[in-house]
Amino acid sequence: MANILIGVSGGIACYKIPTLCRLFKKEGHDVKVILTENASKFVTPLTFESVTGNRAYTGEFDPGLDPEIIEHIDLAGWADKFVIAPATANLTAKAACGIADNLLTSTLLVYTKPVIFVPAMNTNMFNHPATQENLKTLEKRGHIIIEPDSGELACGTSGKGRMKEPEELFRLIEGERPLAGLRVLVTAGATVEPIDPVRYISNYSSGKMGLAVASKARELGAEVKVIAGSISADCSEFDTVYVKSAEDMLNAVREHVGSCDILIKAAAVADYAPVEAAVQKIKKNDGELVIRLKKNPDILKEIAPLKKHSQVFCGFAAESENLNKNAIRKLNEKKLDMIVANDISRKDIGFGSDDNEAEIFFADGSSEHFSKGSKKLLAEMILIRAAGLLK
Ligand SMILES: Cc1cc2nc3c(=O)[nH]c(=O)nc-3n(C[C@H](O)[C@H](O)[C@H](O)COP(=O)(O)O)c2cc1C
Repeated sequence: MANILIGVSGGIACYKIPTLCRLFKKEGHDVKVILTENASKFVTPLTFESVTGNRAYTGEFDPGLDPEIIEHIDLAGWADKFVIAPATANLTAKAACGIADNLLTSTLLVYTKPVIFVPAMNTNMFNHPATQENLKTLEKRGHIIIEPDSGELACGTSGKGRMKEPEELFRLIEGERPLAGLRVLVTAGATVEPIDPVRYISNYSSGKMGLAVASKARELGAEVKVIAGSISADCSEFDTVYVKSAEDMLNAVREHVGSCDILIKAAAVADYAPVEAAVQKIKKNDGELVIRLKKNPDILKEIAPLKKHSQVFCGFAAESENLNKNAIRKLNEKKLDMIVANDISRKDIGFGSDDNEAEIFFADGSSEHFSKGSKKLLAEMILIRAAGLLK
C-alpha cells in the first residue's frame, strides 16, 4: 500500500478532501495532509487528523514538531504519491514559479516525482491567462493536472472550475493509468504541401487537439508516439516523428502503425497538393498564376488494409456543414472504429482554440455528445472510449 501525501490549499473545495482521505484510508493507504494556513480556515487540521490517524501539518515552524526532523524533506521522501487538492490559483502560481514560502510549497520543491494538481476555483480565475500559463508550465514539467468540471460553483456563478467529487478523484488518482501497457499513435497538426521552395498549401490546424490526446494518453499510462506536421504547440516532450507533406505523413503512419494498439488521427491532412513543386522560387509576373493540384492520398483509407483485429483506429472529421452525415460516411468508408466530428465553422471551438465540442460516432451505429469543454477533456473521453473498444 502507498504513502499518499495530500496538500490542501485554501479553496472552497477543501470540504471534499476529508472524504478523499477516507477513501484512500479505506483502500489501506497511509495518508498524511499538509494544509496551507488559508486551507486550515476552511477545514481544521483536527478533521484531517481524525480521518487520517496522522498529524496534519500546517507550518514549517509549528510548535510540537520533532526537532530531529525537517518536515519538508521528510514528507517529500515519505510520499509515494503527492496530490494537491484543491490547488488554488495562488498555490498553482507559486508552484509554477518555484516559490517555497510555506511547508506545502517547500515540500513541492523537494519532491522529485510528478505531482497531481487538482485545480478548483471560480471560472474567471481558472480562465485567467496567468492561471492557464501556470498550469501549462506545471504540465510541461511532467506534473499531472486533473481538470475541474463545469457546473454550478460555490461562488454562485456557473462555469468551469468545480472540483470533481471525491469518489471520481479517488478513481482517477488510484487507477490513474487505465492505458498502462498500451501504445498510442497520434497524428497532429497540418500537412504542408510545397508550391516552390518558399510557398506552400496548408490549413489552419494548430495541432492542439492531437497534442491534447498525446498528453492525456501519457497521463493515463500509455506509451505515446506523435507524428507531427506543422504544429504551433511544442511537442518536444513526446517521442515525435516530424513530417511535412501528406505523402510523408502516410509513410510515417505506415511505418509505425503496426506497433500501436490505438491510432488517433487528429492531423489535418491537405486533400490536395501541387502536381509538382517548382525547384526554384516562382517569379512574380503580371498575369494569373495557375497551380495545378493533384489529390493527396487518403491516409486512413490507405492504411485501412493494415489494420489488425486487435487495433482501434479513430479518425476526426472537421466539417463546416452536414457534420454528422459526413462523419458517418467517413467512419464507414475508412473502416474506422470511431470518429470524432467537430464543426470548424464555429469560432469558439476547433482550429486554434483550447476548447472543442464534438459528436463521437462508433462503428456499431451509436454516438455520444461531448459538450463544449477543453480539448484535454475531450481527449480523455476519446481515449477511454477507444481503450474500451480494444479486443
Ligand atoms: C470563501 C472563499 C473561497 C475561496 N475559494 C477559492 C477557490 O475555490 N479557489 C481558489 O483558487 N481560491 C479561492 N479563494 C481565494 C484563496 O483562498 C486565496 O487566493 C488564498 O490566498 C489562497 O491561499 P493558499 O493558496 O495559500 O491556500 C477563496 C477565498 C475565500 C474567502
